[in-house]
Amino acid sequence: MTLPTILHDAPIAFIGTGAMGEAMIGGLLRHKLVEPDAITASDLHQSRLDEVKRLFGVRTTDDNRAAVRKARIVVLSVKPQVLSTVCADLNGVLRPSTLVVSIVAGARISSMAAGLNHEAIVRTMPNTPAQIGEGMTVWAATDAVSDKQREQAGAILGALGKHLFVRDESFLDKATAVSGSGPAYVFMLMEALIDAAVHLGWSRNDAKEMVVQTVRGSAMFAERSPVHPAEMRNMVTSPGGTTADAIYQLDKGGFRTVLSKAVMAAHQRSVALGALDEAKADATRSSRPKRTTRKTARKRR
Ligand SMILES: NC(=O)c1ccc[n+]([C@@H]2O[C@H](COP(=O)([O-])OP(=O)(O)OC[C@H]3O[C@@H](n4cnc5c(N)ncnc54)[C@H](OP(=O)(O)O)[C@@H]3O)[C@@H](O)[C@H]2O)c1
Repeated sequence: MTLPTILHDAPIAFIGTGAMGEAMIGGLLRHKLVEPDAITASDLHQSRLDEVKRLFGVRTTDDNRAAVRKARIVVLSVKPQVLSTVCADLNGVLRPSTLVVSIVAGARISSMAAGLNHEAIVRTMPNTPAQIGEGMTVWAATDAVSDKQREQAGAILGALGKHLFVRDESFLDKATAVSGSGPAYVFMLMEALIDAAVHLGWSRNDAKEMVVQTVRGSAMFAERSPVHPAEMRNMVTSPGGTTADAIYQLDKGGFRTVLSKAVMAAHQRSVALGALDEAKADATRSSRPKRTTRKTARKRR
């Protein structure tokens, strides 16, 4: 079968095959963007590898370096705390033309570029609904990423849901605060609504069903409607009615201000964590023994 896709002839290696790696592989195959044998999954755990082989029929290995050797695209899908180890592992193995796509939260392009000694890098910030193909991913790319590679990155990220390209990497910290942490805000809203419904006498099960469907339906309605959510809210707020009383209490309690402060706090934290990540990467680089060239060896002698 010929796959009408930009990912044709572009073997992909996944480094780390946990929740997100599995979701991405599943999405790529479901959308018929690649054939299973064009994907190599690498992980520390044989059980994870057995599972993705069983589910998707992809190639597997527990050797990251072997996984990337023939790949044109390498997806870094490990947790942030092991990223520097993975970068050190892959340093020197990637071909300059290989596209690296990182989904590692908070990892800055400069740290990865230095750790991998590689230039063509796409940094992404997906969110949790990506695990069911309904994510929102914001991404940025280095200048070394070609137009074709950008298209390839877009196709891969499309397997996780919607995606938005930004030229300025600093917008990834801003995306972290809105769409990255966003599901947590929505879950908290749902939790509070369910508790309020239980307070009124609904069973937890019924309350959950009502709240989940209300959030789902509202999101779908907002997506399809051409008008701003503020106008949609006005439509359900009859003069002197029940919603008007509820909205008055939400405003009095500082609902919008609290949400805005929460987003600002998440942004500041994301910027601070990114700076820490870069400082750590700098410290690791400067503590590495320098390669001895013939010239320096002669000088030392
Ligand atoms: N989960 C989400 O909804 C979500 C949303 C947005 C962004 N992200 C980002 O996506 C990345 C992956 O998240 P995840 O939830 O998929 O994590 P995960 O389920 O922990 O998957 C990562 C996998 O990589 C393995 N691993 C660890 N060290 C490795 C190494 N040196 N070489 C190869 N594999 C290694 C892990 O094994 P161990 O379990 O032994 O460590 C695990 O099986 C994270 O950086 C996260 O920030 C996730």
